[in-house]
Amino acid sequence: MKPIVFAMPGNEAMADQICRARGWEAGRWETRRFPDGESYVRFLCDVQGREVAIVCSLADPDARAIALYLAACVARELGAQRVGLVVPYLAYMRQDIAFHPGEGITAVHFARLLSSACDWLVTVDPHLHRIHRLDQVYSVPTCVVRASPRIAAWIAANVPLPLLVGPDAESEQWVAEVAAEVKCPFTLLQKTRNGDRDVQVSVPVIDAWRERTPVLVDDIASTAMTMIAAVARLHEAGLNDPWCIAVHPLFAGDALAALRAAGVAGIVSSNTIAHESNRIDMSEPIADAMAALSGAADALRS
Ligand code: R5P
Repeated sequence: MKPIVFAMPGNEAMADQICRARGWEAGRWETRRFPDGESYVRFLCDVQGREVAIVCSLADPDARAIALYLAACVARELGAQRVGLVVPYLAYMRQDIAFHPGEGITAVHFARLLSSACDWLVTVDPHLHRIHRLDQVYSVPTCVVRASPRIAAWIAANVPLPLLVGPDAESEQWVAEVAAEVKCPFTLLQKTRNGDRDVQVSVPVIDAWRERTPVLVDDIASTAMTMIAAVARLHEAGLNDPWCIAVHPLFAGDALAALRAAGVAGIVSSNTIAHESNRIDMSEPIADAMAALSGAADALRS
């Protein structure tokens, strides 16, 4: 069944591109906040018996997640046959272990909340580290879209003789895949994080690749301290200014300006979060994943 696609505020461009990629209908609704900060949603078209898809990237998640949850619940209340969440950036995946006594695994609790309000979920490269697959925490069918092919295509078109660099062990899953597609070498640094903005990264050994242009690839740029530390080490190793590519450009506070000031060739991101660094469009593979999940649900019913 073809979904009718609703965009939470700030997600209009992504929703529009998804609809245009597939010829799907854009849903009309009113969403706003009451003066006291509570969320309001009113559907302005009939969703009875429809496959509803709600697009909402979850940067700044505490402000957005309840609005998304309520919108999905209301769609169900109004008789939607199924409700899918399209969450290009899925928050709360990094607290995947209790790092210190007294903490909890908030990834699990957040997944429980979203799972309770939807029938399927599509996202792009969630931060899978100690949780290896989304279905370990999400109880509804999920589809993970990989950004690697599109990142590889961007690098192949824009960076001659690249050397891919992952700033930490966790980034291997992205960096290795992109390097294989671009057919170039990659290296991984070692990272130690002592606090939100206190990050140490090892100096790379790059003797064989001195003539290459380094391209840092990471899933998330939040404070950008990981990338800033990596850029400093690449400079120390005698390499040129690197390109920095993030799948999810969170760039909290002055992070973007700080990364620019570190001495980079450029900063590029995918459009899982609307940001001025967006150069890599994920709308088509997201639409493909939505079609696959909707179709799979149809097949199960028939
Ligand atoms: C964590 O391991 C992630 O892969 C990123 O490296 C991390 O979230 C980046 O955070 P920040 O930009 O705050 O250093």
